[in-house]
Amino acid sequence: MYARIAGVGAYLPGSPVSNDELARRGIATTDEWIVSRTGIRARHLAEDACATSDLAFEASRRALESAGMAASGLDLIIVATTTPDFIFPSTACLLQEKLGNTGAMAFDMQAVCGGFVYALCVAEKFIRSGSHKAALVVGAEVVSRILDWRDRATCVLFGDGAGAVVLAASDAPGIIATVARADGSQHGILSVAGQVRGGRVRGDPFLRMDGQAVFKFAVRVLSEIAHECCARAGIPPSGIDWLIPHQANIRIIESTVKKLKLPMDKAVVTVDRHGNTSAASIPLALDAAARDGRIQRGHKVMLAGVGAGITWGAVLLQF
Ligand code: UT7
Repeated sequence: MYARIAGVGAYLPGSPVSNDELARRGIATTDEWIVSRTGIRARHLAEDACATSDLAFEASRRALESAGMAASGLDLIIVATTTPDFIFPSTACLLQEKLGNTGAMAFDMQAVCGGFVYALCVAEKFIRSGSHKAALVVGAEVVSRILDWRDRATCVLFGDGAGAVVLAASDAPGIIATVARADGSQHGILSVAGQVRGGRVRGDPFLRMDGQAVFKFAVRVLSEIAHECCARAGIPPSGIDWLIPHQANIRIIESTVKKLKLPMDKAVVTVDRHGNTSAASIPLALDAAARDGRIQRGHKVMLAGVGAGITWGAVLLQF
């Protein structure tokens, strides 16, 4: 029994906000700096009234439509997010209600930018065990809500969005191998360390990042985990048709591709269009490449994510 991708969907709110537009809004930055250091050209920012569950709903609707399945057919819903609508209930439960599903197991996955890969690893185990038949796995974020817009070193990097896949039980190959890891000793290099306590926010409610430390960590672990995942599947990296790495920085993607000795045109890159959307970045890229026809049924696709925690992981699947 395999867990196979039956449908993909994605959603970006509103219109793209260019680097020049951020500069016009008073951030001391330039298009040249952002493009040369990160490859980001634009991001989407959700309106105030739009919550993570709204973005998740739009992406999920598209994924269900592409799978030709009704929401009532889902028996598992996992939302990977670090910007949930509320402290509780989970965004997955709010999404379940929006989709009109009742009875599915629903919960959130908190592994920040590594969240979508973590959630896929978990959903795959449920399906492979035979306990569940159809899972909706979503990465959805309104990262813009936790940005300090006075901190130019972080606020230009992130954006809002959502991506989703429907995973269904299948006799035909789907997910072939998964690996996921964490190193909690690195929690301080990327965090939102604030807490709600006694009715007030205590500590810093904004995203803080030691950019260079995260950069070095990401460059090392993304290629390592992809190698490990290939070894588990018994195929060399050259057997990968498409690499879909976390979309945070084009230089991290280029370095990962080089370490895997792959040509750059095997990597799916969408970071230029939406910046770092945390848990949404990998399913956004997957949806783009599946819809434009690059990823075809039978292709081997490697997803590799890394995020705060630090968490990281890889999933090798046959599309
Ligand atoms: O989801 C996982 C999360 N995150 C990532 O993957 C991000 C990983 N890190 C990175 O992508 C890079 O470290 C950054 C893009 C964040 C920064 O690039 P960098 O080449 O490491 O730049 P830097 O932090 O060393 O800053 C270089 C200069 C500094 O000026 P001085 O001190 O050299 O005069 C910064 O003040 O660039 C300045 N700077 C900016 N200038 C214009 C920082 N942010 C900006 C900005 N616009 N937005």
